[in-house]
Amino acid sequence: MPRPPESFHTPRLFARKPQAADAEAVLAAYAGDPEVTRYLSWRNYTDVAPLREFLRGVAQTWESDEGRHYAWLLFRREIETPIGSIGINFDGHGAMLGYVLGRANWGQGFMTEALSYVVAWTMAQPALFRAWAFCDAENLASARVMEKAGLVREGLLRRWHVCPTIGPAPRDCLVYAKVR
Ligand SMILES: CC(C)(COP(=O)(O)OP(=O)(O)OC[C@H]1O[C@@H](n2cnc3c(N)ncnc32)[C@H](O)[C@@H]1OP(=O)(O)O)[C@@H](O)C(=O)NCCC(=O)NCCS
Repeated sequence: MPRPPESFHTPRLFARKPQAADAEAVLAAYAGDPEVTRYLSWRNYTDVAPLREFLRGVAQTWESDEGRHYAWLLFRREIETPIGSIGINFDGHGAMLGYVLGRANWGQGFMTEALSYVVAWTMAQPALFRAWAFCDAENLASARVMEKAGLVREGLLRRWHVCPTIGPAPRDCLVYAKVR
């Protein structure tokens, strides 16, 4: 599998691999907010300790040879606290992408900017032919971000994922992709 860059820049953003010491800032920026996690597969964190462990694990995957999952923290340039995260999961010749942004930074095009970078990187890898992502069918902001980043809607995955912040019932998802 190709190896993504450990950091990258876009016009307004800086991305780097996370470390355990980012936990407090990540909790404050986005991971502690149930409004942010509403449509995500994980519930908002209330304690920093499990988040620190999670980030330690994410950091370790960058060091391992397993090479399937990579995630970055996102920062506005010149500002030292993170605003969100974006990640990539390799599945054969495809790359599944996921992302999250703190509420204070919604609606300014930041995730479109980050996702566009990761999609372009994916499409530039000779071994990869498909960049794709899914979102809850009610998460219209996320669907719009995928469209703006050049992904095309492929369909509705019914009863596809559980959003624990909302409840235990599996929910419908929209799936989007860009292929080459
Ligand atoms: C979804 C999310 C990543 C969007 O990030 P963002 O940086 O605010 O997105 P952008 O500013 O690049 O674009 C948002 C677009 O959605 C639109 N939008 C926002 N809320 C909307 C809504 N309720 N209905 C329809 N469109 C909406 C905006 O108008 C904008 O489109 P436009 O540029 O055509 O006007 C961010 O809201 C987030 O992290 N939410 C919580 C976590 C999450 O849901 N992650 C995605 C999981 S699949």
